[in-house]
Amino acid sequence: MRKPILAGNWKMNKTRDEAIHFALSVEPKLPKEGVEAVICAPAIILRDLVKRCEVIHVGAQNMNENVSGAYTGEISPVMLKDTKVEYVILGHSERRAYYNETDEKINQKIVRAFEYDLKPIVCVGEVLAEREANKTNDVLKTQVTNAFKGVEIANPDNIVIAYEPVWAIGTGKSATSAQAEEACKYIRDLLAGIYGEDVAQKIRILYGGSVNTKNIAELMSMPNIDGGLVGGASLKEDDYITLCNACAK
Ligand code: 13P
Repeated sequence: MRKPILAGNWKMNKTRDEAIHFALSVEPKLPKEGVEAVICAPAIILRDLVKRCEVIHVGAQNMNENVSGAYTGEISPVMLKDTKVEYVILGHSERRAYYNETDEKINQKIVRAFEYDLKPIVCVGEVLAEREANKTNDVLKTQVTNAFKGVEIANPDNIVIAYEPVWAIGTGKSATSAQAEEACKYIRDLLAGIYGEDVAQKIRILYGGSVNTKNIAELMSMPNIDGGLVGGASLKEDDYITLCNACAK
């Protein structure tokens, strides 16, 4: 059985003190089993979070594909490893849209993350115009195929995919559970085509895009949705606890 994940993506929110307060107050109230509670925080507070979190698994939101060098402002996989974070979000649509991240770059980042024992949370998803033009599957196929080109998966527990339709992110307009399930199932089929059915059945696929305490249960009832990647609602302590409880199986 795939263990569900509830991953908060804090994006560019929370100071160090706010993050520590959050972690200390939610940790005692999180389910002890049945779900992996993850927080992907701004890089500058990762070390403090790692030190304090016992239940929460800590992740970064991005990573450069190079190990070191003249890349001003960037964070390398070596640095994330040194900080003892476990997860790293790669290819978030905000990074694709605002920082020109290409499928090729994301592919390089996945390879590098594995080299340094970091677990990638790889984001894919279509924009509204693509959905309206019935291109969702084409987009997902291109993104998944390119992201995993030449990537070997030694342990399917160490890779997570997040289906995040761009039109649902931060809009309050979540995909319906049927739409989310259809896309997650399609992604699993694509993974089966690359890695075989056995591996594909073990990979966790999350849904992200306006997940909240009201829609999480229905999303989680879908057979191919293994958790959520949550932006806005993960910033509130009570909501984060409720979301983790709703994901626990
Ligand atoms: P929201 O939950 O705020 O829509 O953000 C989703 C997201 O982008 C998570 O990575």
